[in-house]
Amino acid sequence: MAKKTILDLKDEELKGKRVLVRVDFNVPIKNGVITDDRRIREALPTIKYLIDKGAKVILVSHLGRPKGFQDDLRLDPVAKRLSELLGKPVKKLNDCIGEEVEKEISNMKEGDVVLLENIRFYKEEEANDPEFAKKLAKLADLYVNDAFGTAHRAHASTAGVAQYIPGVAGLLMKKEIEIMGKALESPERPFICILGGAKVSDKIGVIKNLMTKVDGFLIGGGMMFTFLKALGYETGKSIVEDDKLELAKEIMNMAKERGVKFLLPKDAVVVKEIKEDAPTSIKDVDKFEKDDIGVDIGPKTIELFREEILKARTIIWNGPMGIFEIPAFANGTRRIAEAIAENKNCISIVGGGDSAAAIQMLGLEDKFTHISTGGGASLEFLEGKELPGVAVLQDK
Ligand code: 3PG
Repeated sequence: MAKKTILDLKDEELKGKRVLVRVDFNVPIKNGVITDDRRIREALPTIKYLIDKGAKVILVSHLGRPKGFQDDLRLDPVAKRLSELLGKPVKKLNDCIGEEVEKEISNMKEGDVVLLENIRFYKEEEANDPEFAKKLAKLADLYVNDAFGTAHRAHASTAGVAQYIPGVAGLLMKKEIEIMGKALESPERPFICILGGAKVSDKIGVIKNLMTKVDGFLIGGGMMFTFLKALGYETGKSIVEDDKLELAKEIMNMAKERGVKFLLPKDAVVVKEIKEDAPTSIKDVDKFEKDDIGVDIGPKTIELFREEILKARTIIWNGPMGIFEIPAFANGTRRIAEAIAENKNCISIVGGGDSAAAIQMLGLEDKFTHISTGGGASLEFLEGKELPGVAVLQDK
């Protein structure tokens, strides 16, 4: 990666220095309990490295989308979990800027870790307010951005602050960008992209960017019905973006012209009503009736996709194959995840968000080369966009 990382710094640039580390601790919390701590675990290498080098580690993150100070979005449960994982105290401060915070920081010793309060309690954060960014910068000698999951946001703590103190990448940021960057720039072939999720509109940028890079697309999830309808199929009451039919045709033509495989499902799991215990049937995609709703890919499709997956040497997967939150409609997503896990000769990369959640639910995390901690951020990266939180960091 062409950006400087903490590994490029000399020991004396870290020892005793106040280091402001932007992390993405935007984790799901129910009744004060963290239900998935992966983003915290993934930040540990950077935090431990800085502790070992004798830095004073000042962590900053957002949680949710608060409107002002909101007690249920304070970061106390996160500090508690981090402290358990690190095996040392992590002091949660009650603010992000100001005299109290500065005083706490001035009392820190080498290797100490503090976590600032949810940075989005200040509207200046998302506005990327320069005065606010300056106040944050005043807390530290160095800025480290390790929040890949929020790197697509140009906010004060993800971008603005690096205007005032030197900024470098953390180890998670480095890992995310290197693995995904290599797959896009010099992939082992065949290189396939599996896309799912409800909407084509969320994936247009990814499809367009990857069209010049991949050997094939495998399309599942709700978005398959927009493509099938564009080809003239009856899609019943399945989710379709009618205003994207022309675009769907364009995409399929583009793939044809370039010789890129564009595989659509042959069959689907069908219900008359989306609910947990709805009776299901399997239908070929040319057999849909007007009141059918497709909720998952069917067995012929699973087989078709599996064959492609087993031949691939690089796989990027983004978006579930069906409504996987409902167990009866999760089979397609599970079988695709298992097929990828079965292929031992490929680099497998999962864009975060729903597909990452599905893999975790299935307990297949260890079988993938890389599961991104970014949802929106990994999509924008795959779209080929420069992420603002990376752009501001120092070049090597
Ligand atoms: C995420 O969960 O995708 C990131 O933490 C960014 O959160 P946001 O979409 O609220 O900016």
